[in-house]
Amino acid sequence: MKNRSLVSINDFSKEEYLKILDLASEFEKQPVQNILEGNVVATLFFEPSTRTRLSFESAVNRLGGRVIGFTDASSSSTSKGESLKDTIKTVANYSDLIVMRHPIEGSAKWASEVSSVPIINAGDGANQHPTQCLLDLYTIRQTQGRLDNLHIAFVGDLKYGRTVHSNVIALTQFDNITFHLVSPDELKLPSAVKMHIKKKNLNYYQYTDLKEVIPHLDVLYMTRIQRERFSDPIEYERVKNSYVLNNDMLDGSKDNLKILHPLPRVNEINEDVDSNPKAYYFEQALNGVFVRQAILASILGKK
Ligand code: CP
Repeated sequence: MKNRSLVSINDFSKEEYLKILDLASEFEKQPVQNILEGNVVATLFFEPSTRTRLSFESAVNRLGGRVIGFTDASSSSTSKGESLKDTIKTVANYSDLIVMRHPIEGSAKWASEVSSVPIINAGDGANQHPTQCLLDLYTIRQTQGRLDNLHIAFVGDLKYGRTVHSNVIALTQFDNITFHLVSPDELKLPSAVKMHIKKKNLNYYQYTDLKEVIPHLDVLYMTRIQRERFSDPIEYERVKNSYVLNNDMLDGSKDNLKILHPLPRVNEINEDVDSNPKAYYFEQALNGVFVRQAILASILGKK
């Protein structure tokens, strides 16, 4: 992976995913190592973030590197009309690697084509979020002991949910995954993503009702209905409360069930679920540091 950009989860093989996960386990055991001393990582966030930006920055700091960047495009020269191309070419002069989140689909690919240093896509609009996907795979393997023979539900905004798109595509690399896709009719998984499931002859089932699917699941991956992706606020209002998971709904679920969520949540997981041992979303967020340490160390050629 040395010097390669991570733009889409499709860019990497199953073997490469697994190497990252194994390396992340090493960082989980020993998160403080001085292997990025002398390296500068730029974090350019044109969209808001808590977990992705701070876990990347924590990962760099724990590995002895330095971070530069901005958290709001309005504080950068983008606000004066500078193009993304010029911003990337400039920041590439100041850093060894750029982590970028941007609202436009395809922006990370475009950045990787003009940058002299690797680009890590920290989310490009409704398209992909490959580093979240890798930490989700890490969490699934950590909690289930495997990445095959699983029943996984993705719930909520499957149309605009970039974490869902990356996860579904990655999981088709593994054997005997059954996908349960729960969404309002307006927010179904795009056909282009479903094609990946079909190509591997894996099974998927689509539902609008969450309750009926819960007893069959190993992993329940909840997502937020994302107000910022809707052009029509009335449509958002109509679907925003489609799914609200609460503790009672987990009665009869399998013992090994784990509830994941990329976060932030709004109200799709009731707080009464947080104390249920099946809730695992805050541990999942912690795993973001170890997985991002593994990604940075691999791309910067330190491991
Ligand atoms: N999961 C995720 O991308 O969270 P943030 O938007 O807080 O980075």
